[in-house]
Amino acid sequence: MSDPNSPEQRERWALILGASTGTGAAIARAVIRDPGLHIFAIHRGHYPDEARHLEDELRATGRRVVIHVGDAGHPDGIRECAEAVRSAMGPRAVGLLVHSISGASIGHFLSTRGDAFHPRQFEKTFNYLAHSFAYWAQTLHEQDLLAPRARLLGLTNALHDDNMLHNCGLIAAAKAALQTYVRYLAVEFGRLGHRVNLLQFGTVVTPALQTVLGPQAIQRMEALHREMIPAGRMCTLDEVARFVSVLTHEEAEWFNGATIDFMGGMTLRLFDMVLRPD
Ligand SMILES: NC(=O)c1ccc[n+]([C@@H]2O[C@H](COP(=O)([O-])OP(=O)(O)OC[C@H]3O[C@@H](n4cnc5c(N)ncnc54)[C@H](OP(=O)(O)O)[C@@H]3O)[C@@H](O)[C@H]2O)c1
Repeated sequence: MSDPNSPEQRERWALILGASTGTGAAIARAVIRDPGLHIFAIHRGHYPDEARHLEDELRATGRRVVIHVGDAGHPDGIRECAEAVRSAMGPRAVGLLVHSISGASIGHFLSTRGDAFHPRQFEKTFNYLAHSFAYWAQTLHEQDLLAPRARLLGLTNALHDDNMLHNCGLIAAAKAALQTYVRYLAVEFGRLGHRVNLLQFGTVVTPALQTVLGPQAIQRMEALHREMIPAGRMCTLDEVARFVSVLTHEEAEWFNGATIDFMGGMTLRLFDMVLRPD
């Protein structure tokens, strides 16, 4: 994306799937300032206070803001949300798509207590974390909603490489599928001028994670990460979000089909931590 003050840039929108809290909300706060995009944010309504707060903060910038309640992770919801996108901004206006949907199942493939992953959990996790990215790409293309030289960005974690976390097999599998979608879409969109990438970052503490894990588990997690990450601290939501602003700039245009490592070397010391003599 070139000169942020050009008329073309001033009418571009960021469509953020999964933004009332967490990474999507932080990215909305960042890209409304740099490069100055209007914001269309979608969430399902589980965090009404955070959503209101986000809306107030975004509106204070003077840019246009739509906060839409809907399910951006399911084919029926996507159809409904896409209609709202079209009526809010018209054709060829989405300059940035960010897929920041969470909501996966954790558990195990085998179980001795009858609590193995159910096919419904496979379907939901893959819809939310992977398929919805491809569905949105198809929908935006078919309905001519993408602005010239748009950027499409998926988000991933450390789990889909060689790193395993005992109860996160479904998440890892879905993120691997997401990575494959990103690569194929990067090729198919390439000649149309759009760019499709995946941003990989390490654990960041979001309000949702704090609620799910509780203060003690968060403290333990933070201490472990401080030891594991070469910088001696965890990455913040704000750092991830500001890097997404960087990815919207013209200089980042040659990223395509890439899994961009923004992990701070988080997994480099895993062997060292387990195997080094005391
Ligand atoms: N947190 C991390 O450490 C981390 C690290 C690397 C990558 N990531 C990736 O970053 C993305 C976002 O994760 P997060 O931790 O920021 O999530 P989060 O804190 O749980 O926030 C998710 C946001 O998305 C909304 N949302 C979830 N499912 C939705 C759906 N189907 N339709 C519309 N909105 C939906 C939620 O609101 P509602 O529930 O009200 O819809 C909420 O606003 C995920 O892809 C995750 O894998 C996270």
